Amino acid sequence: MPAETSPNRLLKVREALASRDVSIDALLLTDLDNIGYLTGFTGSTAQVVVTPSEALFITDSRYTVQAARECTGFTQVETPRGSGGYGEALQNVLKERPIVQKLGFEAGNVTVAAWEKLRELSPKLEWIGTENLVENLRMVKDAGEIATIRHAIAVAEAAFLSVKHLLVPGTREQDFARELEYAMRRGGAEGTAFESIVASGSQGARPHHHAGPRPFVTGDFVTIDWGACVDGYNSDITRTIGIGAVTSRQREVYAVVLEAQRLAIAAIRPGATGKEIDAIARDYITAQGFGNAFGHGLGHSLGRDVHDGPGLSVRSDSLILSPGMVLTVEPGIYLEDWGGVRIEEDILVTEGGCEVLTSLPNGLEVLL
Ligand code: GLY
Ligand code: MN
Ligand code: MN
Repeated sequence: MPAETSPNRLLKVREALASRDVSIDALLLTDLDNIGYLTGFTGSTAQVVVTPSEALFITDSRYTVQAARECTGFTQVETPRGSGGYGEALQNVLKERPIVQKLGFEAGNVTVAAWEKLRELSPKLEWIGTENLVENLRMVKDAGEIATIRHAIAVAEAAFLSVKHLLVPGTREQDFARELEYAMRRGGAEGTAFESIVASGSQGARPHHHAGPRPFVTGDFVTIDWGACVDGYNSDITRTIGIGAVTSRQREVYAVVLEAQRLAIAAIRPGATGKEIDAIARDYITAQGFGNAFGHGLGHSLGRDVHDGPGLSVRSDSLILSPGMVLTVEPGIYLEDWGGVRIEEDILVTEGGCEVLTSLPNGLEVLL
């Protein structure tokens, strides 16, 4: 899997445009992850217009110098100074290109209010909503992207190991989260992939618990879900650790989650659907009597976005796994007033199956 360049990605977008059933003359991109993927832009505000023969990069004065450096191969357009902003810039671009009569836009990324404004600006244009056009291309990662995700995982794992000694009675969830996040920044992350989850004791029953003031106590399971963002790509890892001592019930629940994950990972291969892999973990958890306690999908695509597209879930019958996809595998069991267990790995689909990219041990650990 070679690393790709912007021209290659642009070519693929144009191919995707050309192969649509409903034709469009140009595509307006407003999703920043898609824009960054296509152009290399790392700023926070821009729009891109792709036609069969042109690629235009629209940004404002804060980013013109940066964009000229980062987005080679794109014709730069600076938004007019004054009140018109991006709408006026787009209007001008389209006025100069009367050939564009049908403009595709990213339906999932434009609010109704923004769309109505755009339609007012260019009333003669036919606006055609597109879905997942660039997102689908992003599902399969190239060598450069995979290397960057590996780096994001390494930073997150090293950070975790450096603060693991704080998993002791008395440490508060929010303090552990803060130290973990600081360690990731110190280790080279440009930010966290998402707000770190640290859920101790009965709070572990909430899959996306906000780390709070509760101190860990002996006998807790603590579920930690964290990730680093490095060069625009994310890692996403979960470990559930015992504090001091655990009961046989905790051991039982942990073993079910771990086995569900092992079975699912063993089945991942090109050609399998996301739904089939989800079912392997779900059926096992159900057979062990915990079916109602596993409410979320088994995993998601991972990349520029933490939830980078479809993944492993009951809804993913149209996702056919192929080499280069990076996915999380994160079964969980959540029992109200008791707590929870989630274990999350990041995997790369390969020609022969998959490679587990995360490397922290995932057997039950009880820290004394
Ligand atoms: N941390 C969110 C997730 O695991 O999907
Ligand atoms: Mn996670
Ligand atoms: Mn995840």
